[in-house]
Amino acid sequence: MKELPRKHMTSRRGRRGFELAPECLNDTSSITAFLRTRRSAEPALIGAPGPDAEQLEILLETAARVPDHGKMEPWRFIVLRDAPREAFARMVKARWMALNPGEEPDKRAQYDLIARIPLIIVVVSRARAHPKIPRWEQYLSAGASCMALVTAATAMGLGAQWRSSWMAEDEEIMRALGLEEEETIAGFVFIGALDESQPRSDRRRPYWRDLTTFWEPPAG
Ligand SMILES: Cc1cc2nc3c(=O)[nH]c(=O)nc-3n(C[C@H](O)[C@H](O)[C@H](O)COP(=O)(O)O)c2cc1C
Repeated sequence: MKELPRKHMTSRRGRRGFELAPECLNDTSSITAFLRTRRSAEPALIGAPGPDAEQLEILLETAARVPDHGKMEPWRFIVLRDAPREAFARMVKARWMALNPGEEPDKRAQYDLIARIPLIIVVVSRARAHPKIPRWEQYLSAGASCMALVTAATAMGLGAQWRSSWMAEDEEIMRALGLEEEETIAGFVFIGALDESQPRSDRRRPYWRDLTTFWEPPAG
């Protein structure tokens, strides 16, 4: 197996970890190379323009092509872009100010990101009661949709990040987005052009060997 260039490190708690060299991140030379090196983009690196109409369709197609036990389709997607996204950003700001009276909206409010990132796909989890398929399996499937969006967008050379934040749990925000009683937000997936002029870096990753056991039957 080809070893990738990595910087090795140990955390204060003694856990081993590593970062890949920036130049080998998001290597699209093969599907496995890409999966070994993929990396989300920090929102600061994501900007205009957003994906075009064809790219958006491909993204949504991949989001709906994820493992789904029982063909429950336990997810749906809300696209925020252009003027409606700007209106949503204003709503987020007003809601944050109502929740934090007397405070100026700062980084925590995140409305500036909503106002700036060209495309946000809200992945809505719509898990429901089923005699054989537990809700948590349906939540996992919604997570897989978020991951598919990030993976596909990054493979297209775009910048993408999966986020939640206070907005994902706020009832007013959920109502404004049209969520129904049993629906929850699995993620806001931020997508846009990747600013290639900025230096990239990896995030500390654990070694799979430290997380994996090869099971053997108990002796005797
Ligand atoms: C459910 C979920 C919610 C997340 N919410 C946030 C968030 O609100 N803000 C944030 O900075 N990262 C958030 N992250 C982390 C990023 O999506 C991501 O893990 C990080 O940027 C590194 O990603 P990478 O492994 O693709 O490089 C969230 C991840 C998950 C799985």
